[in-house]
Amino acid sequence: MDSKQHWESVYGAKSPTEVSWFQREATLSLRLIREIAPNRSAAILDVGGGASTLVDSLVSLDYSAVTVLDIAANALAAAQARLGTRAAGVRWMADDVLHAGLPDRSIDVWHDRAVFHFLLSEEDRRSYVEQVRRVVRRHGHVILATFAEDGPTRCSGLPVERYDAQRLHSQFGDEFRLLTTLREEHRTPSGGSQLFRYCVCAFDPVSAAA
Ligand SMILES: C[S@@+](CC[C@H](N)C(=O)[O-])C[C@H]1O[C@@H](n2cnc3c(N)ncnc32)[C@H](O)[C@@H]1O
Repeated sequence: MDSKQHWESVYGAKSPTEVSWFQREATLSLRLIREIAPNRSAAILDVGGGASTLVDSLVSLDYSAVTVLDIAANALAAAQARLGTRAAGVRWMADDVLHAGLPDRSIDVWHDRAVFHFLLSEEDRRSYVEQVRRVVRRHGHVILATFAEDGPTRCSGLPVERYDAQRLHSQFGDEFRLLTTLREEHRTPSGGSQLFRYCVCAFDPVSAAA
């Protein structure tokens, strides 16, 4: 089963409120986005947003340039149905983040909760970071949330990489300046506990061409 089939079958089998990563409100992500991008016209990309309620909160706060990208088209459809007419103000992309044709230098805030940690090969992680470097604007920001070093070893039936702040930051390199790092305990809908590591970086490329 390829990745798209895996994720579409997950979202086909469970409602968005039953999946282990469900948050009634993405409180920490929202707080970080509001801090680094108070301007409501900031271009915000939720990578692997799935059926997350983060987009609902952003739309409610009048963020006007929000994109949600996910490999599972049915997850995006669930978010669209929940938003109703408000979905029209959001850009939706059903695509693989490693290959998505997002325009160069088009994003102010790249947000990823629980997607990067699925990338197990060096090659995939490099492709991901290349996408970030191409798509995020100079002096834009990246918010990455993965399972913490002592978090679960699997997510949605798949093995994951776990990170502490230093290791997560080192995947991105010096042009990404680490501003904040936080741990969060996530309570799953079934009452389990999952430790997450969040890192917020500013993208300050040294090359003038970047
Ligand atoms: C654990 S869920 C997290 C969903 C959401 N970010 C949240 O915090 O509620 C991982 C999400 O990443 C998506 N995904 C996995 N691999 C992906 C890829 N290569 N490109 C885009 N989306 C991907 C899945 O479909 C799923 O919606």
